[in-house]
Amino acid sequence: MLSFRDVRVVRGDRTVLRVDSLDLPPGLSVLAGPNGAGKSTLLLAVAGLVDLEGGTVSLDGAVLHDGTAPAPLAGRRRTALLFQEPYLMSGTVRAAVEIGLKLRKVPAVERRQRVQRVLERLDISHLAGKRTTKLSGGERRKVALAQALVLDTEVLLLDEVTVNLDEESVHTVIDLLKKRVEDGRRVVLLATHDAHLATMLHASVYRVDKGRMVPQPCEQVRGEAVKQERA
Ligand SMILES: Nc1ncnc2c1ncn2[C@@H]1O[C@H](COP(=O)(O)OP(=O)(O)O)[C@@H](O)[C@H]1O
Ligand SMILES: [Mg+2]
Repeated sequence: MLSFRDVRVVRGDRTVLRVDSLDLPPGLSVLAGPNGAGKSTLLLAVAGLVDLEGGTVSLDGAVLHDGTAPAPLAGRRRTALLFQEPYLMSGTVRAAVEIGLKLRKVPAVERRQRVQRVLERLDISHLAGKRTTKLSGGERRKVALAQALVLDTEVLLLDEVTVNLDEESVHTVIDLLKKRVEDGRRVVLLATHDAHLATMLHASVYRVDKGRMVPQPCEQVRGEAVKQERA
C-alpha cells in the first residue's frame, strides 16, 4: 500500500499539492486531472524528487519521503519514475537503459539480460544500438519507459506515458503494465489527462484538481445508489 498523510508541496508562495490522506493499494491506479492540477508534483513527491513542506509518503508502513532533503536513497530506490519530459543521457539506447542497474550495482551479465528483456517487451530491440539523440518523440518515451521498467521496483510512477505513442505501442504498454501488477504486490501509478487510458487499463481512477484530491465519482455513484435504496 502506498500511503500519503498530510502531504504538502509548496512552490513559490503557493501550495500546489495537498493530500490529507490517500492509500493506493497494489495494482494499477490512474491519477487524472487537468493541466496544472498537481499530478506530476504528486509523482515527484513519491519519488522523493520534490521537497515536502510537511507530511509523509510511505510504502507498506516504511517511510519513502518525509520532507527531508534529499529523500533517503533506500526509499528512492523502491520507486522508478518516468518523467513527463524524459531526459536520456547521450550514448546508445542500450547504455541509457542499463545505467540505473549499474548504479544499483547489478552484475553485468544480469544487466544485459534485463535490458534485452525489457527492450523485447516494448518491441524496441531494434533501437538498442541507436544513439539516444537520434530518436523520435515516441521512441524516446519508450526508451525512458524501459529505463523505469528495467529497475523492477515495487512502485512504478509514469507521467503521461502514452504521449507520442502510436496505437499499437499504447496497446503494448497497456498489456505490459497489466502483467506487471499480476502478482498483486506492485503499485503502478500513472498520471494522465487521457480518460480513455484509465478505462483500457481497468485502473482505479483518482482525481486531482487545483492540488487537492477530488472525491471519486464511482463513490458518488455508489452513494446515490445507496440513497435510492433507502428512499
Ligand atoms: N518548478 C516549478 N516552479 C513553480 N511552480 C511549479 C513548478 N512546477 C510546477 N509548478 C506549478 O505547480 C502546479 C502543479 O503542476 P504539475 O504538478 O506539473 O501539474 P500537472 O502535472 O497536473 O499538469 C501548477 O500550478 C504549476 O504551475
Ligand atoms: Mg504533469
